[in-house]
Amino acid sequence: VEVNSSPNAVRALIQQARREGAIAGVVPTMGALHAGHASLIEAARKDCDYVVSTIFVNPTQFGPNEDIDRYPRTLDDDLQKCEAAGADLVFTPDTSQMYLPDAESDVRVTGLTQKLEGERRPGHFDGVTTVVAKLFNITVPDKAYFGQKDYQQQLVIRRMVMDLDWGIEIVTCPIIREADGLAMSSRNRYLSAEDRQRSLVLHRSLMLAEQLAAAGIRTAEIAARMSRLIEAEDGVELDYAVVVDRSTLVPAADDAETGVALLAAKLGKTRLIDNQELRFR
Ligand code: PAF
Repeated sequence: VEVNSSPNAVRALIQQARREGAIAGVVPTMGALHAGHASLIEAARKDCDYVVSTIFVNPTQFGPNEDIDRYPRTLDDDLQKCEAAGADLVFTPDTSQMYLPDAESDVRVTGLTQKLEGERRPGHFDGVTTVVAKLFNITVPDKAYFGQKDYQQQLVIRRMVMDLDWGIEIVTCPIIREADGLAMSSRNRYLSAEDRQRSLVLHRSLMLAEQLAAAGIRTAEIAARMSRLIEAEDGVELDYAVVVDRSTLVPAADDAETGVALLAAKLGKTRLIDNQELRFR
């Protein structure tokens, strides 16, 4: 797999491929790749002729209390995974190649970014949309792939692409789980053996939500039952468990046909999120 850290060189390589008629797909990541990321690259490989993955731990999406230095960096392993999953090119810029020290521009989505993750992590989504906008402008893809694990993130990116007439197709790929149900995340490696066991309550609460939705239980009651289940687990600090509309993230109406259960919880110092789309009876 070709590896390049220069924005201009990467732009030129992708431009060349597209001039030759290739459909180009990009998979933006922050590295520390797992099977969830690999599934995004594999999906891009199926759809596209030229597949670019990007690895950049983006400082602007970390809050002052979120330790960017603690974020895992596993470049050699990441490059192997990119190659095995079928990437043609891996873009690995460093911070000075991505951000001018005197930059005065950013990209901001309002509304959607004020809720849930955005409310708890002020400025986080501004960092995400700005870096994804820059990655789109460098890679100029036809399609871009994101994981459903970061449910709100993929909605925010879809909103940005629609509002700014980008004409890039956003593809959201299903959550990949460990055999016991825990959603794959680069942060899972921080869980102690005990917390790893406790974390299973998160997936259990989503399965409960699915059952209750299928049984015709009201949405507010589903959220309350999820919360109770998670709060009953020692060592798991629930942040939120909600049942909301799949595109606006406002609480799902009682007569809604579909919705999504979203949750966040802390185990020790590690904050995990997960979600499950729901169909109501
Ligand atoms: O989901 C992520 O890993 C990051 O938020 C992204 C989309 C690569 C932007 O830095």
